[in-house]
Amino acid sequence: MTTPPLVSVFPNLEAASRAAARQLVGDCRKRRGVRDEVHLALSGGSTPRRLLELLATEHRDAIDWSRLHFWWCDERTVPPDHADSNFGTASRLLLAPLDIAPDCIHRIRGEHPDPSAAAAEYDRSLVSVFRGPPRLDLAVLGLGADGHTASLFPGSPATLLGIAQLAPPPGVEESPAPRWVRAQHVTSPLLSGGAASRITLTLATLLLARRLLVLVAGADKAPALREVLAGAFDPMRYPAQLLAACPRPVLWLVDEAAASHLPAGWRASLPS
Ligand code: 6PG
Repeated sequence: MTTPPLVSVFPNLEAASRAAARQLVGDCRKRRGVRDEVHLALSGGSTPRRLLELLATEHRDAIDWSRLHFWWCDERTVPPDHADSNFGTASRLLLAPLDIAPDCIHRIRGEHPDPSAAAAEYDRSLVSVFRGPPRLDLAVLGLGADGHTASLFPGSPATLLGIAQLAPPPGVEESPAPRWVRAQHVTSPLLSGGAASRITLTLATLLLARRLLVLVAGADKAPALREVLAGAFDPMRYPAQLLAACPRPVLWLVDEAAASHLPAGWRASLPS
């Protein structure tokens, strides 16, 4: 069972980032959760950087940022001050400028010598804060040119787990391993050296989120975006296809370059 995505195409990354910022602020304003908190998970990479900058500047006074709790969709196995750290990027562009309280920052400890232990620690942290299955209010995702999202890479164990979480084989008990976060070794031509160790939210966690927003920009993403949104279902090859299992429409905010391979009918209009 899949839910049709909501795809909006913008002239460029700037316009898509501005729309994403408006969407995020609007969602945060509407959300009146328990203890009035809003739980947001961020992704890394270069695409969301402009979004983070916009939130910290033009939207600085748009919401009560003290209500927000920040999580991560995935993390690299590096220290928080490393240039590749997803937490480090968000801290520099958003958390520090908005002076977000440390209690509201829930980072994945990429520096942990044992990534599996770091994943289990994050899994426990999610279950503890949410007092059960982690229902994020919003997860901001990206798309790799190889079809990955978060760190659900083609052919990776977490992708295989996601497929199994979607349709558990009959009679197979859910593995006792952490359900919500996994560490894994991934391979991709996109990664320096072709491989990396990553810690990622699982598909089960992403599909629980009240809102999934995927921000995609650049011509290099066009072939993958077309396969993810309009290609034959092949999630081991294009893991981002698994997001379609979300019971709520996934918002895809993409620029013209990334959308250039989409069939003509995939365009919606949102003010850019
Ligand atoms: C990461 C991200 C990853 C990212 C895509 C796109 O840790 O790298 O979580 O899933 O969203 O790789 O990255 P770019 O935005 O740099 O193209």
